[in-house]
Amino acid sequence: MNKQTINELNKRASRELEKLFDLDKLREWKRQYLGKKGLIAQLIKQLPGITDNKRPEIGRQINQIKNDLKKAYDRKMSNLQNQPPKTHRQEPNNWFDLTAPGEKTNLGHLHPITQMRQYAEDIFTRMGFEIFEAREVDDDYHNFESLNMPPQHPARDIWDTFWTNQGLVLITHTSSMQNRILSTKEPPLRAVIVGRCFRNEATDARHEHTLHQIEGLLVDRGITLRHLIGVFKAFLDEFYQRDVGIKIQPSYFPFVEPGIEFLIDCTICRGKGTMNKKQCSTCGGSGWIELAGAGMIHPKVLKEAGIDPQKYSGFAWGFGLDRLVMMKYGIEDIRHFHSGDLRFIRQF
Ligand code: FA5
Repeated sequence: MNKQTINELNKRASRELEKLFDLDKLREWKRQYLGKKGLIAQLIKQLPGITDNKRPEIGRQINQIKNDLKKAYDRKMSNLQNQPPKTHRQEPNNWFDLTAPGEKTNLGHLHPITQMRQYAEDIFTRMGFEIFEAREVDDDYHNFESLNMPPQHPARDIWDTFWTNQGLVLITHTSSMQNRILSTKEPPLRAVIVGRCFRNEATDARHEHTLHQIEGLLVDRGITLRHLIGVFKAFLDEFYQRDVGIKIQPSYFPFVEPGIEFLIDCTICRGKGTMNKKQCSTCGGSGWIELAGAGMIHPKVLKEAGIDPQKYSGFAWGFGLDRLVMMKYGIEDIRHFHSGDLRFIRQF
């Protein structure tokens, strides 16, 4: 059993249900798919046989489909039971019921990035973080200057930036919200910022011009790098429902000191760096995917927001949601997300 067989069963059941207009046949359909010995029950029975870490995900998928089919069945049953006598319905030109509820056709679903964004937000909410949305267009001060990058600072070149004619910035990162939150909230504070960012750079399997980031901020007394690593690892283990392999290496961002990067093992090549004897194009052959920049918030950034760095310390991270989702579903190329290819989107 895999996701595809479950999806196919779902499609078949929905197609058959759409064509039913007879109460007895409808009840027979319910027995066949939703009954105690029905096809969905048979799938559930097979769950314990799945030994790898896909079991919880497949379990959720089956439950979702079961609930959707049950709702569709109830709707159809109520429609059929409330229909006018047949003699009326046989006269379509004389009778048209404007109040009849619409029937579900193919309504589509949320994009995988949106689904996983909500999933990640839910985890952070349970960890005590307040969720904020980033502005997509912002000013130089918030994207750069308040983050310890005055005009002409060379570190601005780390991000290939889109500017508007009015001198505004299509945000290059969700760190653009740091100053707003730090200057309006009193420590202790925990915030997560989610948003779309834009970079004027060449695209490849793991780089897009439009990407999604999830930023985290935590400020309190006595916060250290160990807290950052603990929170980040707890999130990843919960998100992937496994003990995730992470690598931490030094990095530089002007708004943190020290700065680090989090990498996670590449699920495409299973950390080997090669696929079918060729270099893995997703991780560039390293076996690791860079997921986040992070570090201890620079004292100048705290001061700029009116927080006393002698009293408080804090950490911040910014990770790429697209890459997080790629590694969850084994998507080998980030460009699929915006390709508009329905064969890709319908798999989620
Ligand atoms: C930043 O954007 C920093 N603002 C992160 C940060 C926040 C550091 C807070 C310290 C404190 P960076 O440019 O490395 O850093 O991007 C962070 C993550 O966004 C990357 O690790 C990657 O997962 C994702 N990312 C960056 N560029 C792209 C891109 N072009 N396409 C897809 N994902 C990207």
